[in-house]
Amino acid sequence: MTERTFVMIKPDATSRGLIGKVIARLEGEGLRVVAMKMLNVDRLAAERLYAIHRGKPFYDGLVEYIMSGPVVAMILEGEGAVRRVRRVVGATDPAKAEPGTIRRDLGLGIRENVVHAADSVENAEREIQIFF
Ligand code: CMP
Repeated sequence: MTERTFVMIKPDATSRGLIGKVIARLEGEGLRVVAMKMLNVDRLAAERLYAIHRGKPFYDGLVEYIMSGPVVAMILEGEGAVRRVRRVVGATDPAKAEPGTIRRDLGLGIRENVVHAADSVENAEREIQIFF
């Protein structure tokens, strides 16, 4: 089924000049970028994006990190887009991600892991509402 998903290229990647590389990998999987913008995430948006992580030990650092530099927010579309994007992105911890995934190849650590990708159609729609 044709789906939309939400992806954010995070500050560690924008600051290292990896925007083009990340988009090329996503497009290389046959996913279409249907909306895109570069922005600085404010605290309200950061807290909405990461609401499910509130209370976890890494939450405060995560919110500060996502506000620490520009990000690129995108809507991607394609057959089974949520699952396909998550496959190319790889596991949260780059050290545990499959070889050939974006996070394994480009990630710096569990927080500085290049991209955020929605984990369900419902969350994709919720996250799209925050940024578009
Ligand atoms: P993301 O896909 O954006 O969703 C939540 C983010 O929290 C995750 O990527 C990581 O950047 C971060 N994260 C998850 N687990 C940890 C952890 N144990 N320590 C620090 N950051 C984490």
